[in-house]
Amino acid sequence: MKLLIKNGRVICPVQNIDDKKDVIVEDGIIKDIVTGTVNEKDFDKVIDAGGMVVAPGLVDMHVHLREPGHEGAETIATGTLAGASGGYTTLACMPNTHPVNDNPYVTAYIKTKAKEEGVIKVYPIGSITVGQAGEQLAEIGEMLKAGIVAVSDDGSCVMNSYVMRKAMDYCKQFNIPVIDHCEDTNLKGEGVMNEGYYSMKLGLRGVPAVSEEIMVSRDIALSDHTGCKTHIAHVSCAGSVRVISDAKQAGIPVTAEVTPHHLFLTEEAVTTYDPNTKVNPPLRTEKDIKALKQGLKNGTIDCIATDHAPHSMEKKDIEFQLSKSGMIGLETALSLCLKLVHDNDINLPTLIKLMSTNPAKILGVKGGSLKKGEPADIVIFDLNEEWTYSDDKIISKSKNTPFKGQKMRGKVKHTICDGKIVWQS
Ligand code: DOR
Ligand code: ZN
Repeated sequence: MKLLIKNGRVICPVQNIDDKKDVIVEDGIIKDIVTGTVNEKDFDKVIDAGGMVVAPGLVDMHVHLREPGHEGAETIATGTLAGASGGYTTLACMPNTHPVNDNPYVTAYIKTKAKEEGVIKVYPIGSITVGQAGEQLAEIGEMLKAGIVAVSDDGSCVMNSYVMRKAMDYCKQFNIPVIDHCEDTNLKGEGVMNEGYYSMKLGLRGVPAVSEEIMVSRDIALSDHTGCKTHIAHVSCAGSVRVISDAKQAGIPVTAEVTPHHLFLTEEAVTTYDPNTKVNPPLRTEKDIKALKQGLKNGTIDCIATDHAPHSMEKKDIEFQLSKSGMIGLETALSLCLKLVHDNDINLPTLIKLMSTNPAKILGVKGGSLKKGEPADIVIFDLNEEWTYSDDKIISKSKNTPFKGQKMRGKVKHTICDGKIVWQS
């Protein structure tokens, strides 16, 4: 099968390409990137990408696919299709399933399901501790053999520093990153939103930013001590950005991610009492957003990850305090983040790096590159097309997002995974 993608603005951060070119795909692999005349007759399929951007397929290193156990909210089939519609070709899924992915059997199950029913690539993340209870280390070595690419207790924090140290000792040997959900549970208490003016005004319990900063600092110290690669999940506040920046300058092997919702929504969104604005960590302040954007610009924050967290209506569409934390994000991430480009905060190749090249590198998986010989994982999008995200457009099995009704600028046209068109709009 030979595919030609012609006339697009081809961006490849790995090769420093940002130019009008043609991409040639053969048998699922990038064959060449050329300028000039190509005979269309030599191809089985031709996509005219005139006026579009052609980039490496997006890589999301933090999603919840809910399978096994919570298939009512999402499955590997629906979650990967939602990802494809958002321009993603690779997802790494968190272990807070039911049962928890804390053993090689669950890892193997996810891998098999993804192969049979997924439309894009799925890499499982194993848990750090048994049942994500924070006490006893999970079978990390066995899960690694079964196919995990990292470990995380995402959704809960490993409060016991000794346990975290041991996890890092192991993962250093295995050369995989530990992905940290940083949140001191004692400082968080019963908090449901950011602690500050609005939590007081709304009469809701607050989660202070320091509950995150303290654990970021601890895990950086442990990373320094053990030499283990440590990735800070969903950074939400200015203080975390500051300590991560210091750690990087000291040469500590730490990386970090930010979500689109922490970049584009403040705690003020909670004044609607819309449970879709309840996320963990909570939406913070303008000052925090400024620091997060600065972190993206200067390389302190390495990537953008969605923390796509589907929840069924029964668990989400209830009183704010009782509602589960999390929002879906795969379908809106690119359009939302293109605002950073339209506002001249960062340039387009940098955004592609943040949403594709860098997360692939952190996980040590293929992707994020249009180099010859690499898998043909490609997204083609219109930088400027306007559209409105609405309930009837949602692909994910769950509809929990506060972005419904929002006008977006930038739209995915084609998503290609291993040379196969898996999404077309
Ligand atoms: O808001 C969140 N939802 N944050 C997390 O860390 C977990 C996630 C979930 O699994 O729903
Ligand atoms: Zn998460």
